[in-house]
Amino acid sequence: MTPIYQIQSEILKYLDEWKDFVWDLDLENTFGPEPDKPYRARGGKFFKENRAEYACSTECLMSLKHMEQDGYPPDSYGLDLNQCSRWLKEGDIEERYARPIIDKSNWLDEHLGNYLGYRFCALKIWYPKDGYISWHTNWNVPSFNILFTYNEPGKDLGYWRHINPQGSTSPVPNLGENEEGLVHIPDRPGWTCKVGYYGRKSEHEKIVWHSAFSNSPRMTLGYVIFEEKLWQNTCEEIAGEQLVWPLAPYDPNSDDYYSR
Ligand SMILES: [Fe+2]
Repeated sequence: MTPIYQIQSEILKYLDEWKDFVWDLDLENTFGPEPDKPYRARGGKFFKENRAEYACSTECLMSLKHMEQDGYPPDSYGLDLNQCSRWLKEGDIEERYARPIIDKSNWLDEHLGNYLGYRFCALKIWYPKDGYISWHTNWNVPSFNILFTYNEPGKDLGYWRHINPQGSTSPVPNLGENEEGLVHIPDRPGWTCKVGYYGRKSEHEKIVWHSAFSNSPRMTLGYVIFEEKLWQNTCEEIAGEQLVWPLAPYDPNSDDYYSR
């Protein structure tokens, strides 16, 4: 995945309105595993075991049965607001808590989606401090991806990790003897974006094992695009400039990302 650190202002306007809405839900207090919380926490195995960050460790990654993974994260700790309509149907959330989220989420997909020329939002997840999404591939949905992530300025920032699949000859993560395959991308304050392709199980050099961790409340929106050219146009729309394809992979020693 390649970062885009500066997002053009029209898009930021929608992202900020969504952020303000979610922050007003006061999820730091209204989300949790307790049955009386309006927004119930699901999953969070490693969080409950008091080792949240293990979910994003290379040790955890290598302990997985790689060939048996379905593509979904085996564990996560956060609230995927995209799931509210399903929870409402299943009676897992009260209407008065779900409805405003469903409406605002539709508003975002309509506006941001129309603006960017796509409509399929796969994920709208809010993470608490020590929230995470554990290692997975999404190889069940091979696609071009756009992830928007928000970190609160002045707070401890989270991070993203993936394994560089270049040179891979199997679906097993290509970590390397000294973990040289690990790409650790620290978050930045405010909204940033990461874009890239998640390959199918047979595309060994395009499989992206990935995970993310939050050191303070943090949010990610994941949009999926199946058509490469449309995805490229969307990336350029977000960056507000023409980009050189294929995008340069992330380089921790370079500060020069799209567009600084
Ligand atoms: Fe993912």
